[in-house]
Formats: sequence, structure tokens, C-alpha cells
Amino acid sequence: MNDNKQSNEPRNVGFIDDYSNDSVHNRSTVRKTEGKPVYSNPLENETKPKRKITKMSRKRYRKQNAALIISCLFLAAVASVSLYFIIAGPEPETNSPTGEFDIALDSIPETEDTAEADTEAVTEEKEPEREFITLSRDEIHKGNLILVNYKHEYVFPEEDILVSMYKTSDAFSVNTTETYFQKEALDSFCTLMEDLYENSGCNDVLVVSAFRTVEKQQEIYQDRLDRYGSEYAASYVADPGYSEHHTGLALDLTVYADDGLSYDIDTYENTKWFMENFTEYGFILRYPEDKAAITAINFESWHYRYVSLPHSLIMEKLNLCHEEYTDYLKDFTVDTKILTYNKSSDNLGEISEDNIENADSSYLIYYVPASDGDTTEVPLLKNTEYTVSGNNVDGFIVTARLKG
Ligand code: DAL
Ligand code: ZN
Repeated sequence: MNDNKQSNEPRNVGFIDDYSNDSVHNRSTVRKTEGKPVYSNPLENETKPKRKITKMSRKRYRKQNAALIISCLFLAAVASVSLYFIIAGPEPETNSPTGEFDIALDSIPETEDTAEADTEAVTEEKEPEREFITLSRDEIHKGNLILVNYKHEYVFPEEDILVSMYKTSDAFSVNTTETYFQKEALDSFCTLMEDLYENSGCNDVLVVSAFRTVEKQQEIYQDRLDRYGSEYAASYVADPGYSEHHTGLALDLTVYADDGLSYDIDTYENTKWFMENFTEYGFILRYPEDKAAITAINFESWHYRYVSLPHSLIMEKLNLCHEEYTDYLKDFTVDTKILTYNKSSDNLGEISEDNIENADSSYLIYYVPASDGDTTEVPLLKNTEYTVSGNNVDGFIVTARLKG
């Protein structure tokens, strides 16, 4: 390391998002914790507090979803037949005016019910049981993959999920001692910065801003409004409550070099390695130039967001921003097709649940819509280690890998 610098000491430098006077770090909404965050990486250390795992047959799970549709169809059929008789009136030739109606009602559903019940009795015994994890509705707003933007407000958790970034590594610096992040994201960021130093000898990266309270975001918004006007403020600063900085998963980076000047991280010579490798550590450039119409934020070369592996790599491979990726994943469910991603070969694919033993070392990814009730039964794949994240919109994303 460069002895001329006191790594990880706070520095005040000029920058587009310079919040160096962040002396009032209001922790009333989210407090610091020294302990483990609620959403650490269960792929490595499986802790799933407050989650109940239950077993249910796949048939029954599918039936739960199908039951509503069948009921609706049945009611529609009854309504149609009733309407027909009301309009047509009784047949004069029929001895029993209601005979045909009775037959229609009695025969069709009875036949189907009987057939299905017979099949079910046989199938349910044969099919392996599937495990489920029961998640409450508020868990939609938690996890590495939550989408926070102008449409989707951040819901602050009751738990303590932040840790200090101050003096966590010699490989980067922080702008203020009051700099907080989520634990898993911080661990990955430290590794990224240490690998940057190993590869380029650069320890000049400065974290200008990480977690922000709503009050801090309001202060920044007002400052930009006063200094540059409403168009600029709206293009570069999220509305208070709708900023990724509230999550403790996003940070603003600059380079503070030994010459005492600051440089953009995307064009500085010694951070070229960073620009080529940050997605390997679970980070994305959240506001690319070509996605401004979707993100509603102008290009920000300094703002990086932790989404975890392999999602950062898939987004990069498919050139999808977070909004697009959230939609893309909705095509993959445990009952239809599961997305596979092999990190070594950088290959994407699809697989059915019945074939997952052929997934080898691939990641298995699928979406689970949240139910309308208070809880959702999230299906799990057999013999896998997994993480579950909310998407902050309408459901959950499961990321799994085969054990062993
Ligand atoms: N600069 C980003 C959009 C924020 O204010 O959250
Ligand atoms: Zn930012």
C-alpha cells in the first residue's frame, strides 16, 4: 500500500455527490448493527430466521393455483347454462323441464371430478414431496435484488441491517466515518477493492456516499434544486424514499489520487481493472447511458449497486438494467422453466424441475409471485442451497445451486 496515504481515513473532496458534511447521520430510521445482517448469503452460511419450511406435494401446489381458475370456469359454465334457460325457456316436449339442466350440471363436472380424483390418488403417492418456505408479505421488500426506483419506494426494515464501512480495508477510503452498508455487499466490495490493488496497485478509490436516510436524500435533492434547477435535480437525484441509497446496497465512488485531485472512476487509468471486473463481484453500474429512458436517471458513472452473483453477470451479458431484469425473470417459474447460468462457461439456459440433477454447477433461478394473502409458500428445489430475495414489486426470486 502507498505509505503516503492514510487508507480508510475520511477525506473531504469535491465531487458531484459530495456529501462530506454528513456529520448528522440520522439513524432513527435504520440503526447500525455490529451483528449479522438479516440477508447475509445463505449460499455460504445458511441462516433463515423466522422462516418456516413446510412440505407439500407438487400436485397440490399446482392444484392450489389451478383451483381458482377451475372454480371460475365452473361458475361461468353454470351462469351460461342458467342464462340459456332463462332466455330460451322450458322445452314444451320435455317431460321434465329441468331435466336437461340437471343432467348438464350433474354429468359433466362429476365425470371430470371423478377422473381427476382417481388420478390424484395415484399420482400424489408417487410424486416426491416439495419443500416450501413460508414468507410474509413484507419480505418482498428485502434482499439483494430489490428494485428501488421512481415507481418502487424503499420500505425500511425494522431490523438492523447496516454495518460501518470505516476501517474495513486498507484498499479504499471513505468520505466520512459515518458510512454504512449491508454486510454481504461490504464483504464483496472489500474483496473487489483488494483485488483491484493486487491487480493494479491502486488503492485510490473513495466511497463518497453509501447508505442515506430519507432526510439526507431530501437535503441533497434540495441542494441540487437550489443550485442547478428542477430538471437537473430530477435527472440525477431520486425522490426521498425512492433512492437506492436507502437500501445500503448502493454507493458512489470516485478516485482521490495522490496528487490531491479527484478523478472519474470510469476514465481513470488505474481503475481500468475495476471497470472490467466489478460485475464479477455482484455489482452493476446502475444508471447506464443507454437505459436512462427506463431508469429515469441520467448516466451516473459513479453509482454502483450490489445485486449479488450471478445476477450482475447475467444483467451484463444480456445488457439489461435492473428494471428490465426484474421483468425478464418473471418468465421463469418452478412450474414452467427454470433459468440456468453457468459462471465458468458464461452460458445461460433453461431447465425443468424434473431435470435439475443435470444442472451441474449452474445457478438455478426462478421467480415466485407473491400471493394475495399475508404469506407466500415459496417452492424450493430438492437438494439445493438457495437464497431468496424479494423484488420489491410483486414477488420473490430464488437463486439456488445443487448441493455437493
Ligand atoms: N443519484 C441516485 C439516482 C440517487 O439519488 O439515488
Ligand atoms: Zn448514488
